[in-house]
Formats: sequence, C-alpha cells, structure tokens
Amino acid sequence: MSILDEIRKKAREQVKTIVFPEGDELRTVQAAAILKAQGLAEPILLGDPDRISDAAEKTGSDLSGICLLDPAGSPDRTRYRDELYRIRKEKGVSIEDAERLISDPMYFGIMMVKQKDADGLVSGAVHSTGDMLRPALQIIKTKPGIKVVSSGMLMEFQNRDIGYNGLLVYADCVVNPCPTAEELAHIAISSAETAHTLGGIECPRVALLSFSTKGSAKHALVGKVQEAAAIAHGLAPDLILDGEMQFDAALVPEVGLQKAGGSPVAGRANVLIFPDLQAGNIGYKITQRLAGAEAIAVLQGLAGPCNDLSRGCSVEDIVNTACATAVQAQSP
Ligand code: ACO
Repeated sequence: MSILDEIRKKAREQVKTIVFPEGDELRTVQAAAILKAQGLAEPILLGDPDRISDAAEKTGSDLSGICLLDPAGSPDRTRYRDELYRIRKEKGVSIEDAERLISDPMYFGIMMVKQKDADGLVSGAVHSTGDMLRPALQIIKTKPGIKVVSSGMLMEFQNRDIGYNGLLVYADCVVNPCPTAEELAHIAISSAETAHTLGGIECPRVALLSFSTKGSAKHALVGKVQEAAAIAHGLAPDLILDGEMQFDAALVPEVGLQKAGGSPVAGRANVLIFPDLQAGNIGYKITQRLAGAEAIAVLQGLAGPCNDLSRGCSVEDIVNTACATAVQAQSP
C-alpha cells in the first residue's frame, strides 16, 4: 500500500473536521465533496454560501451534508474577534484591527482551529504559503515543548529498499531559512513525530546532515550541527538520533559503517535533517526530479494542524493534504 493510501485509511478510521478558508474555490469544492462522500473528513467550507453553491454547480459537486459557513454572518465571529484581540494585543493589534482581520476567512479558519471548533485547516490553492503560515504562526503557535514550526517532507520511493519500506522524511524543506542549533534540534524532534504518526515509521532513526561525518571536517557550520545533536539528545533522550553525518554515511550501510561505526543511525537513517532551508529545499527537489520520489509536505510543530497547498494543486492533492491534516489531528 502506498503512503497516501495508508494516510487515507488512517483518516477514515477517526474522522476529523477540516476547515477550508478558500471555500468557494473550484478545486476545493470538488475535494470537499470527495472527502465527505468517501468518509475521509468532515469538511467546512468558508465563504458566501451562494458563491460556494455556484462553484458546486459549475463542478458538478454534491455538497449535501457539508457545512457551508459564512464568516460575515457567523454567531462565533465576535467570540473569535475578541480572542484574536486578546492573543495579539501585545503585538499592537487593536480591537478594530481584530474586527478587520476576522473578516478574512483565513484568520476566521485559523481561529476555528485555535478554539477547537475545527480539528485542522487546509489552504493555499489561492493564497501564498506566507499568507497561511503567518496567521498560523501568530495565533495557533507551536505545540508545547516545541520552539519552531517547520515542514516535514514525506519522500516515497518506488525502491522499497530505501529508508523505511521506501519512505524517508526530509526536513526542513519549506519554512526556516537559517535555523539555529536549538531550532535544528526541535526540527529533528518534530520530524521524528511526523515519521511516526504520518509515515507509520515505527522506529524513526534521525540523521543530522552535514558535509562532515563525526568530526571529519572542522568548521563553524559543522559545529552548529554537532551542537544541534547534543541539544536534541538532551531534549529527547529516547530518540534514536545521531550527527553530524554526510548523506551517504546516513543512508548507505557500508559507508555508515566505515565513517561512523557503532552509530545507531548511520547507514539506516529514515529521517534526514538538513542544516538549512537551501540544502533542504534543493535536496528534496533533486530527490523528486532525479529519483522520481513522490513528495508530500506537511507543517509540523503547530499546536493545531494547518497545511499549505501549492497554487498549482490538483483536486487529488487537496484531498491528500486534508487526509494528512486529519491524521495529524488524531495525535494532538
Ligand atoms: N516557528 C514558529 N514561529 C515562527 C516561525 C517558526 N518557524 N517563524 C516565524 N514565527 C513567528 C514569529 O515569532 C512571529 O511571532 P509573533 O508575531 O508572535 O512575534 C510571527 O511568526 C511572524 O514572524 P515573522 O518573522 O514576522 O514572519 P514572517 O512573516 O516574516 O515570515 C515565514 C515567516 C513566512 C514562515 C518565513 O520564515 C518564510 O518566508 N519562510 C520561507 C518560506 C519559503 O519561501 N519557503 C520555500 C518555498 S515553499 C516550497 O518550496 C514548497
């Protein structure tokens, strides 16, 4: 079974409520109809119900039983506005600002997740990554014990000998341009959780990547990765994690043995932590394009699951992202 089939299966087992701020967007409406019909999630479409119904008519989507919610007329609007004001007033947000922000379906949807009126949120068919990430970072914030929100990229290979049954988790490939050692440690811990909950990897083995393996090179950048490994060990002593190490030492058993003999990770890593966003983003795209791996991105470390779509996404991408969000919501 592919990782996406596994995720869909898990989503069905404990159905979660997913809010879509771009509720009248044509692909989103089609995805919502599929999610409902296949019992994968309970979608909530935000927006003007007439516009949503028009989109459903245009796409031939059956929205029976799906909640269409107009933020403008919602009885929860004042409650969300007041809570938004409370959370952001120290950052200079006035009650008038909060009133304006809550009219934006993105902020309304984020407040639904914050107030636990929805289990998760999916957006990005229209909005940019930043438009969704910023309110999520400002309002939902990080999970207890986690200092930084990051992305976990599930990389699935045809070759089932790679990683855990053909699956590797890469991080961070989307969010943090230049993480500190402490942030890298938190990214590593969140990624192991993603590997377990979403990837079904029973025993995540986390490698902190560098151009050096176990002190083979000396440089401030190497020192940062070594420091990150030490911090992660302190924060999560039971996590199987090692670093710094090179990509081949992490993945190839003979190289791992030669360069880092005795490491519980070298040669059999299934979670790869890149030292910064340039390395991570380039690394996942190389893997996708040259190795033909399927890449599925999720945000990790948020106190309530929210996920971003690419603006070029298909209906199927939205369904898959909603299912991944629902599975994340099963393990808060
Ligand atoms: N984790 C937790 N909180 C964060 C994080 C984070 N990673 N980053 C920012 N924050 C918080 C800040 O502390 C701040 O909180 P506060 O307002 O309560 O003090 C709030 O979020 C806003 O912070 P800013 O630094 O002002 O955030 P900004 O809006 O400038 O940027 C963003 C945040 C959008 C995530 C930025 O880091 C970014 O642009 N990252 C790169 C995204 C990108 O271009 N990715 C690659 C392409 S996507 C792809 O390839 C699929």
